[in-house]
Amino acid sequence: MFALDFLPTRPAAFPSIPRKIKTQLFCEDDLSSNSLALKILRAELHIFIKTRNLLGASLGYTKEMDYTDSQVAEIYDVANRLAEDGLFYLALAGSRRYSVLDLGCGTGTLCCALAERGHETTGVDPAAAMLDVARRKPHSNQVEWVEQTAQNYQSQKRFDLIFMTGHVFQTLLSDADILATFENIRVHLNDGGRVGFETRNPRLDWASEWTGRQRLMRMPSGEEVLETLDIRGAVGEFITFQTTYYFPHTTLTTSSTLRFPSREHVEALLGRAGLGVRKVFGDWALSPFDQPSSREMIFIAERAG
Ligand SMILES: C[S@@+](CC[C@H](N)C(=O)[O-])C[C@H]1O[C@@H](n2cnc3c(N)ncnc32)[C@H](O)[C@@H]1O
Repeated sequence: MFALDFLPTRPAAFPSIPRKIKTQLFCEDDLSSNSLALKILRAELHIFIKTRNLLGASLGYTKEMDYTDSQVAEIYDVANRLAEDGLFYLALAGSRRYSVLDLGCGTGTLCCALAERGHETTGVDPAAAMLDVARRKPHSNQVEWVEQTAQNYQSQKRFDLIFMTGHVFQTLLSDADILATFENIRVHLNDGGRVGFETRNPRLDWASEWTGRQRLMRMPSGEEVLETLDIRGAVGEFITFQTTYYFPHTTLTTSSTLRFPSREHVEALLGRAGLGVRKVFGDWALSPFDQPSSREMIFIAERAG
């Protein structure tokens, strides 16, 4: 379920969206079932999107963007509020004052929540547009923001906790990039420090699950945005997809590729970087990882030896 809400009114340029669709759109689980109601909902959505496309063509324009674009960064922030994954990492940090490094911090939601709880926090991300959103948040002035990749971040600081959240790990597409990141993490860990990150379980059929996924969001300006996802390719460990955002007068698209390595492969790379796995959870409720059914592989690791 997505934690997003709606205005009772909508911008004039939007075709009518039945309230039924509005409320049901946020139920990912509902969308994956095959009930009659769902088929009707899908048909209505299809008409809605077609109409929106026509309106978009006559009223606006289409742009290709990514996290480096300020509009995409704003949308990302609206669509990704602090949720169960963030609460998991906050709980890991606990109430003792720790030094925490968040690699691929994005729009800084977790960093600001950590800082609010008294942790000495550094947020690192290569996308300036994402950091710009982060810098406008409450408690952001207590966070050190660094524009850099996880592989290339360098500091004299050493950290009690290093996180990679929001499946940032899956944007590392090559073994070389994963290894460089893990080695960099080991260098920046304090004695006794821990690293926590997650990646989706490759045993599940993510491409099928994501096919046709869509949701409706409301921007702080009040504009409603429809987000749709199209799978462009699923080869081996990689899924490429296009995300499209339909605004009243603009359509934006972003393309992404994510990697879905196996647990064994991640553990082997951690080992090569001098890190040892302490725990692997299968969900945010701390269930042990179960290969056939878990959605997540949440790794907690520390320096080996
Ligand atoms: C899905 S967002 C996750 C953001 C944040 N961690 C969260 O949980 O909301 C992915 C982020 O990874 C960043 N990113 C992409 N490549 C990266 C790299 N090599 N090192 C660090 N961050 C990277 C992107 O700029 C983007 O902000």
